[in-house]
Amino acid sequence: MSDLLAINSLRAGYGEAVVLPSMSLTLGEGQVLALLGRNGTGKTTLINSIVGVTRRFGGTLSLGGVDITAMRPDQRARAGIGWVPQERNIFRSLTVEENMTAVAQPGPWTVERVYEMFPRLRERRGNFGNQLSGGEQQMLAIGRALTLNPRVLLLDEPTEGLAPIIVEELLRALGTITRSGGICSIIVEQNAQKILGLADRVVILERGAIVHDAASRDLQADPTVLERYLGVAGAAAH
Ligand SMILES: Nc1ncnc2c1ncn2[C@@H]1O[C@H](COP(=O)(O)OP(=O)(O)O)[C@@H](O)[C@H]1O
Ligand SMILES: [Mg+2]
Repeated sequence: MSDLLAINSLRAGYGEAVVLPSMSLTLGEGQVLALLGRNGTGKTTLINSIVGVTRRFGGTLSLGGVDITAMRPDQRARAGIGWVPQERNIFRSLTVEENMTAVAQPGPWTVERVYEMFPRLRERRGNFGNQLSGGEQQMLAIGRALTLNPRVLLLDEPTEGLAPIIVEELLRALGTITRSGGICSIIVEQNAQKILGLADRVVILERGAIVHDAASRDLQADPTVLERYLGVAGAAAH
C-alpha cells in the first residue's frame, strides 16, 4: 500500500503554544484510521494541522507525493483534503444544495449521490443552513466535504452531541463512504467501540504524541489497551 498522506516531524500549535511537538504519521491509499484519545490530547489540532489552520513551527506534509506544507487551507482543499470540522461550519446563509455546489469538484461524489445517502438532505435542499437540525447540519457537512471529491476525508467527532438514531444513520453512511473506495479517512471519535468496526487502524494520542498505533482488529481482540488510554468510558460499548 503506497502512502497517500505523509506527515513528517510536524510541530504545530496555536500562538506560542506547541500542542504537537513532533508528529509523524503516514496514511495509505484506502485506509480508514480512527484517531482516539482523551479530551485535550491534540486530536483536533492534528486534524486542523492537516487542513492548515494551526500554526506550524516545523515539519512537512505531503499528499500523493506532493508537498502541501506551504499551501493555504483552500489550496489544500483543492488538492484533496476534505474536512468535516468539529463545529461543522456549514454556510448558514446558503441553502443545503448551495453549500455543496459552492465547493464541488468533479469526481464520483455528486450532489445526487449525497442525496441518495442522506434522503433527508434532498427533502431539505432548498432550506438554509441555519434552518437545519444538528443532525442535518452534520449530514450536510459530510456531504459538502464529499462533493469536493477529496483524497483524504477528515472527520472530527462527527457523531458528537447527536441523538442515537442520527448517530446510527451517520455511522451507516460512514460505512458506505469508506467501503466505496477511492478515499482514505481519519475519523476522530470519543467512543472507540462505535468506530472500531469501520476502521482498519487505530492511533491513540496522549499529550500531542502517538502512544499506540495498531490494527483495529487487534484492539477489538484486546480491549485492555483502550481501557488504559481512554478509560472505561471511552472503551465501553454503548
Ligand atoms: N485555539 C487554541 N489556542 C490555544 N490552545 C488551544 C487551542 N485549541 C486547543 N488548544 C489546546 O491544545 C490542546 C489540544 O486540544 P485539542 O487538539 O482540541 O484536543 P482534542 O481534540 O484531542 O480534545 C489542549 O491543551 C487545548 O487546550
Ligand atoms: Mg477535538
